[in-house]
Amino acid sequence: MSSLPMLPQSAPFPAEQIAALNGIMSATNAEQRTWLSGFLAGYQAATVPQPAAAAPPARRAPLTILFATESGNAEALADVARKAAGKLGFAARVLDMADATPAQLASAENLLVIASTWGEGDPPQRAIDFHAALMADDAPHFDSLRYAVLALGDRAYAKFCETGRLFDERFAALGATRIAYRVECDLDYQAPANAWIDGTLTQLRTEIGEPEAGSAVIHVDFARGAAEANPYSRARPFEAEITERIKLSSSRSSSETWHLELSLAGSGITYEPGDSIGVLPRNDPVLADAVLTAAGLAGDAELHDRLVDQFDITTLTQQTLERYSGMTGDAGLARDPGYADARQLIDLLEAAPHRLTEEQLLSLLRPLPPRYYSVASSLKAAPDEAHLLVAAVRYESHGRARTGVASVDIADRRKSGDRLKLFVKPNPHFRLPTDPHRPVIMIGPGTGIAPFRAFMQERDAVGAAGRNWLVFGHRNYTHDFLYQLEWQDLLKRGVLTRLDVAFSRDQPEKRYVQHALWDARRDLHAWLQDGAVIYVCGDANAMAKDVHATLLRVLADQGNQDEAAAKAELDAIRRDGRYLRDVY
Ligand SMILES: Cc1cc2nc3c(=O)[nH]c(=O)nc-3n(C[C@H](O)[C@H](O)[C@H](O)COP(=O)(O)OP(=O)(O)OC[C@H]3O[C@@H](n4cnc5c(N)ncnc54)[C@H](O)[C@@H]3O)c2cc1C
Ligand SMILES: NC(=O)c1ccc[n+]([C@@H]2O[C@H](COP(=O)([O-])OP(=O)(O)OC[C@H]3O[C@@H](n4cnc5c(N)ncnc54)[C@H](OP(=O)(O)O)[C@@H]3O)[C@@H](O)[C@H]2O)c1
Ligand SMILES: Cc1cc2nc3c(=O)[nH]c(=O)nc-3n(C[C@H](O)[C@H](O)[C@H](O)COP(=O)(O)O)c2cc1C
Repeated sequence: MSSLPMLPQSAPFPAEQIAALNGIMSATNAEQRTWLSGFLAGYQAATVPQPAAAAPPARRAPLTILFATESGNAEALADVARKAAGKLGFAARVLDMADATPAQLASAENLLVIASTWGEGDPPQRAIDFHAALMADDAPHFDSLRYAVLALGDRAYAKFCETGRLFDERFAALGATRIAYRVECDLDYQAPANAWIDGTLTQLRTEIGEPEAGSAVIHVDFARGAAEANPYSRARPFEAEITERIKLSSSRSSSETWHLELSLAGSGITYEPGDSIGVLPRNDPVLADAVLTAAGLAGDAELHDRLVDQFDITTLTQQTLERYSGMTGDAGLARDPGYADARQLIDLLEAAPHRLTEEQLLSLLRPLPPRYYSVASSLKAAPDEAHLLVAAVRYESHGRARTGVASVDIADRRKSGDRLKLFVKPNPHFRLPTDPHRPVIMIGPGTGIAPFRAFMQERDAVGAAGRNWLVFGHRNYTHDFLYQLEWQDLLKRGVLTRLDVAFSRDQPEKRYVQHALWDARRDLHAWLQDGAVIYVCGDANAMAKDVHATLLRVLADQGNQDEAAAKAELDAIRRDGRYLRDVY
């Protein structure tokens, strides 16, 4: 790796971007490295100060930027790419995969695809149809299309960046010409994505024969766009005071859910119901001690603080195993393909102990990612505040008690008066209808209920006349009825029109929200006929899929139609913006 070009620190790009680019260099295969080398050379050729945007080409070459997103990152990047492309003289348009078909792209000339991966290696929900159509035997051919793919993901998942990879391979198989290598981004995606956008657009100019292509290096500052909307960001979080911290689940509950009130006073931060708050957590100091001890670095107080605040010291990936085996010469555990499953870094360090230098240890760790929590309040009801609902994650695996980093930081180590670093993550696809008369159906088991508290506070505050139906589920009525008194008050005042509950562990057979929906199928269908918007929030893995299947069954049963017609109807409802999900 040492022979690969490294960016000079004097280049006019932020240090984190330089580090990310160099990181990509070591993470990719030989072919990709060749391309990236050329691209890095372009960066190195950039003089200080940064060159002005290149002269626009004579013809504004058309460019489609197609994104597949669940939580908005790919969409935000598509917008960054559009602006950058505009500066370089492309006639760029952004297209949501939710609104696109492969056939529409058959006549396109230039395409950038930015796609995240969800579930367990699945496309984002709204991109499923496009994905299926592209993979189908009758997919169109793209013989005159130039394209490149940027993949977003999270290395903690076994199928890292799977969707981006599949799109990339499929477009090539269908005859399109790949003009830049795919870059696979981990959660810390901004700098590598930024670099990929710069590099790919530069390459595209070369491909289409623009005379000044070689000098078309631009720098996209995408922190700037976010900063315009809100003064604080992940890189520059607001330190909010915790003004209330209440355990909502009873002491006899088998779950543990906390209500948190945070003061935004003086920050200028605003949010909309439906948005999330990104929290920068702190690791368990006891775990940081254990990691240092296992690595033979115990007693280094400064390093301990850095581990607590800055690095992901829990996630164990195959890549970490391989790096560890490379640096220690101890290949045993890296050869076990299932070793990383439900294990953490500490398991590896203790099972195959080696003395590491500080540099070696840090090279195994990625930056500590933020955790997102749906805002459970409306600024109209609680000015200058944000309320969160946080379920403590505790479980056991491989004989060891484990705790979730952020949720247990909040549950065990934070108290009222402490400060929590946060920023707002807008969620423009999960909004109340603009028409206050439109009915809404909110399906939110567990912590999935959080945004619906915000929705109801908002609709109550503005006096929206539309009907509101909440479907809530949790384990036990007595212990886990989150915000029970508030819902009862809203019902009494007629703000909440209907409340259905499903307590899964109050009877021998599990009863879930989808069972309540099925029982209420006649009314559910009638509400949908009246134009209601359906919202689903909470667990993505099982609940959201089961609720989806139940909605299809209800549409088939009540509409007296077959499965395909029910699917077409739900698709139409979704395209109409009346089936919105925020699942995790
Ligand atoms: C848009 C969005 C909104 C969200 N809103 C909320 C919200 O309102 N409230 C809320 O509580 N959460 C919410 N979440 C989830 C939240 O962001 C965190 O993922 C959650 O709190 C866990 O984070 P943690 O740091 O405590 O756990 P982590 O340290 O991240 O650990 C979680 C990981 O532990 C592992 N794990 C968990 N349970 C088990 C098990 N039984 N067996 C084996 N492995 C296991 C899994 O790998 C899991 O990914 C939201 C997520 C998103 C993306
Ligand atoms: N696979 C996962 O990693 C996973 C899954 C769920 C939640 N979580 C995490 O666990 C934490 C706590 O979650 P939470 O408080 O929101 O509660 P939750 O664990 O999602 O549970 C809420 C309710 O949903 C029920 N439920 C379980 N499976 C369901 C299904 N297929 N369809 C509908 N309902 C179902 C649960 O029942 P029972 O528990 O009685 O079955 C419970 O009554 C969160 O951080 C969440 O992200 C992780
Ligand atoms: C519930 C959930 C499941 C995910 N599954 C995967 C996965 O299987 N593979 C992966 O690489 N990333 C996975 N991710 C990470 C996302 O791809 C990553 O957060 C990405 O930046 C999201 O981009 P988006 O906002 O455009 O959807 C998952 C994230 C969540 C919250």
